Amino acid sequence: MDIFSAIFIFFACALLGILLAVLGLIVKIYSGKSIGNPNYPPVDGTVFHHECYTTDVRNIEHILKTKFDKYVKGEYMMDIIRDLFGEGIFAVNGGKWRQQRKLASHEFSTRVLRDFSCAAFRRSAAKLARIVLEISKAKQSFDIHDMLMRYTLDSIFKVGFAVDLNCLEGTNKEGVEFMKAFDEANALVYWRFVDPSWKLKRALNITSESVLRWNIKVIDEFVHGLIKKKRRQLFKYHTTDMKEDILSRFLQESEKDPDQITDQYLRDIILNFMIAGKDSTANTISWFIYMLCKNPLVQEKIHQEVEEFINGAKNAIDINEFVEQITDEKLEKMHYLHASLTETLRLYPGVPVDGRTALEDDVLPDGYKVKKGDDVYYLAYAMGRMPYLWGDDAEDFSPERWLDHSGVFQPESPFKFIAFHAGPRICLGKDFAYRQMKIVSIVLVQLFRIALADENRRVTYRTMLTLHLDGGLHVCALPRFQG
Ligand code: HEM
Ligand SMILES: *[C@@H]1O[C@H](CO)[C@@H](O)[C@H](O)[C@H]1NC(C)=O
Repeated sequence: MDIFSAIFIFFACALLGILLAVLGLIVKIYSGKSIGNPNYPPVDGTVFHHECYTTDVRNIEHILKTKFDKYVKGEYMMDIIRDLFGEGIFAVNGGKWRQQRKLASHEFSTRVLRDFSCAAFRRSAAKLARIVLEISKAKQSFDIHDMLMRYTLDSIFKVGFAVDLNCLEGTNKEGVEFMKAFDEANALVYWRFVDPSWKLKRALNITSESVLRWNIKVIDEFVHGLIKKKRRQLFKYHTTDMKEDILSRFLQESEKDPDQITDQYLRDIILNFMIAGKDSTANTISWFIYMLCKNPLVQEKIHQEVEEFINGAKNAIDINEFVEQITDEKLEKMHYLHASLTETLRLYPGVPVDGRTALEDDVLPDGYKVKKGDDVYYLAYAMGRMPYLWGDDAEDFSPERWLDHSGVFQPESPFKFIAFHAGPRICLGKDFAYRQMKIVSIVLVQLFRIALADENRRVTYRTMLTLHLDGGLHVCALPRFQG
């Protein structure tokens, strides 16, 4: 038997298998079992475990809030992320989660961190604007998605450690190395979801798993180095004045409770925040810019709102002077910008699908019976496009839908606008993310008119756990001011 007939037979068998599976599904559906019978969901099961998918707001409130303790992050998922996430807030349930959540939400609501992050975002945004200005003067197009990924890493590093990583300029060799290891490790962890043999590969330390191990080592050495350095500084100077970055805040906390807050624990906390905050924010700003290119009128309206609320915006030739004018108080007044970002997240939620595992048998509000160990997923991306939730214009980008007649932002139920998750585990960085997204949007929209480099190139997402743009976002920026 030659190689070609072997390949042919292989594909023929595979095709037959798929056909049989589809046939089985059709028989199952048309035998009436799944229609109107809550024991059979429309999409049911996989080979390995049972899962169901929902867009019903009542079901979502039920699993994320009403029965919060009965629906947890499953072992299957935890297993996959543990090597990178450790015992960080993302990768734990129950008491361990509760304790970290309490500590972190306290820190995130402090004035110190709010002001410090605002200042850090402003400085990085000014840096970003200067780079874009240089490119635009040379009349070149560029990948703004890539630039924003660097921008968010720089910003979160500054807020997390008070360290300048300088990924935007790429001047710091260590910084660029860390960024590469960090992005690669993230992607490789997500690969595990579609690679059933990852545990074997890890045990043998081969292929993707050996690369992942190496990347995690690079990350760990870098982060542990920073923690040691900070501990020494804090010990040496032993100042009473408050350090402002997240790591220092937790280190100070650890003086009170040194047994519990170990270096490993600090590493996990910090890394979880970085993973949570970096890609989701960079992706959302990118989708937002894409929407502004597709809807120039919205871009102009935001520009007008900036001029209305930020002094000196009309003649923003000195970038540093201009960003200094951006304060939290002013950001809060900009309802149209807030609505536009929210509208972006409705259509492009950073986490398109998310779910929980049932700890016991249960019945969802729509009548569907869940068995112990089943996964229940909610489909954030699909929900944003459903007319029964958002009206006939569900697929249109329309910031106005979030505003009342006097232009004041009207929030929706978090179980319906689900981009930040909801219930007790709602995104901890929501305000943080809005602050950062607003600052960088204001700077970009005020200084430039942004358009797609190629109107005919299809912009779409890459299939992974977070909603990445496939192939980046190539744009041109025209300076609004001469200077
Ligand atoms: C537009 C940007 C963002 C989006 C769309 C987003 C979305 C989400 C979602 C969907 C979850 C729930 C994940 C799950 O548990 O299944 C989550 C959790 C979380 N997010 Fe965000 N996030 C964003 C930005 C940020 C930022 C900037 C930070 C921090 C600096 C952050 C910190 C967290 C943390 C710590 C959790 C875990 C909360 C917990 O389990 O109690 N996020 N986020
Ligand atoms: C795994 O493999 C890499 C090379 O592929 C090697 O550098 C590393 O030391 C190995 N790690 C362990 C724990 O065996």
